[in-house]
Amino acid sequence: MNYGIILAAGKGTRMNTEIPKCAFPILKKPMIEYALDSLKKAKLDEIICVVGHKKEVFEDLLKDKVSYAIQEEQLGTANAVLAAREFIKDDGYTLIIPGDKPLVNSEMIMDLINAHVKNNNKLTIGVHYVDNPKGFGRVIRDEDLNVVKIVEEKDATLIEKKIREINSGIYCVDNKLLFESLVQVGNDNARGEYYLTDIVEIMAKIAKIDTYTFKDSYRLTGINDLVTLALIEEDLKREINYKHMLNGVYLVNPDSILISPDAKIGSGTTIYPGCIIMGNTKIGKNCIVGPYTETFNATIEDNVTCKQSVVYDSKILTGATVGPFTHLRMNSTVGVNDRIGNFVEMKNSTLGEKTNVAHLTYIGDTTCGSHVNWGCGTVTVNYDGKNKHKTIIGDNVFIGCNTNLVAPIKVASDTFIAAGSTVTYNVEQGEFVIARTRQENRRGYADKYKKK
Ligand code: UD1
Ligand code: CA
Repeated sequence: MNYGIILAAGKGTRMNTEIPKCAFPILKKPMIEYALDSLKKAKLDEIICVVGHKKEVFEDLLKDKVSYAIQEEQLGTANAVLAAREFIKDDGYTLIIPGDKPLVNSEMIMDLINAHVKNNNKLTIGVHYVDNPKGFGRVIRDEDLNVVKIVEEKDATLIEKKIREINSGIYCVDNKLLFESLVQVGNDNARGEYYLTDIVEIMAKIAKIDTYTFKDSYRLTGINDLVTLALIEEDLKREINYKHMLNGVYLVNPDSILISPDAKIGSGTTIYPGCIIMGNTKIGKNCIVGPYTETFNATIEDNVTCKQSVVYDSKILTGATVGPFTHLRMNSTVGVNDRIGNFVEMKNSTLGEKTNVAHLTYIGDTTCGSHVNWGCGTVTVNYDGKNKHKTIIGDNVFIGCNTNLVAPIKVASDTFIAAGSTVTYNVEQGEFVIARTRQENRRGYADKYKKK
């Protein structure tokens, strides 16, 4: 059995944030999910996440996508891996990766694993070369250039400190030898920690170990504070934007546009400045999005226009026009060729085809049919202070301006509701409803009233 271990028990003290470091979002995606995604393609049998500090945050984020090993006290990376022992059977290998290197991708992981398997190694250390090795573990080799050990910054001699070949913190290692070596690791060093890197010296004496050199050193940047995080987020943003542009997505002023690594966008679509396209958002072909539209887990089909709007966990079907200033949330669906205008909020509601909601309307917990006209200022009154209630509307309904639909309520097809109505009873097919007090006009009274 082959495993992946993600190390995420550390506090990340230099972050100075409530959220633990490896859970902190980059382009609204928690850092640890980058490590998880990069492991996914490696076809590992099980992925174990070592958690400790604020472990419930990780359990909440990743749910049952991983197994959790608990490291009670952060005594060092060797101690962290040891916490995963109970999950790991003797045969096969384990890929170990820290949870704070979001630029590492699955190709890099696959390359490391392939080198490990092809060369029959018992330990393959992912290494790379940097100009300034300060802070990293240095790779120490003998005269024949065989790896003998890794020395951490604080324990390194002046000569060792000059070595530019450094440990990336990513390893592929034989399961049985991993734990046989780990129990031998002590903490007699400058940091008083149990170093995972000490297994190198232990295993070098008894088994075939080697390095794999990652070519793109930059991708191994680890995040320790919010400054590095911002720089990495900026680079990731650019990389993602370039990919979409080369796929035929027109980004206007791309520097101002943030797109999640998991978002998909069809060619022929234009994204205007200031858009934030997050989560698993899918946007079809030939759409116009923005300026200033924010989406999270939205599905936007082909030929949609969505300006200055917020779309969370909702769908906009083909040909619909949304915005400016529309708010769609919690599982709402705008139907094919619908027109939704300014200051319309939809929550947990579905509209059929060619339905118009042009302005100033709240639609909550509603199922509405096709060819319905919602007048300006209509409100589905879905909350009675205790419970939420449903509104059901058929096809070809005309809802006059400033109507209140007091739920639970059903408005059948082919009906007409006069402006200003507060509708509290169901409306049957074909009915005309007027539910407001009658107007009184008193001749000459205005003048009298003003003088009172
Ligand atoms: C480690 C390596 C170093 C390497 C560097 C690359 C060791 C001793 N050193 O140093 O050779 O060059 O990574 O970035 O491994 N963690 C736990 N529990 C702990 C301690 C750490 O889960 O008790 C986790 C952290 O959350 C983090 C990762 O392990 O994700 C790395 O730990 P950190 O202490 O930052 O190691 P480095 O000092 O960077
Ligand atoms: Ca109103």
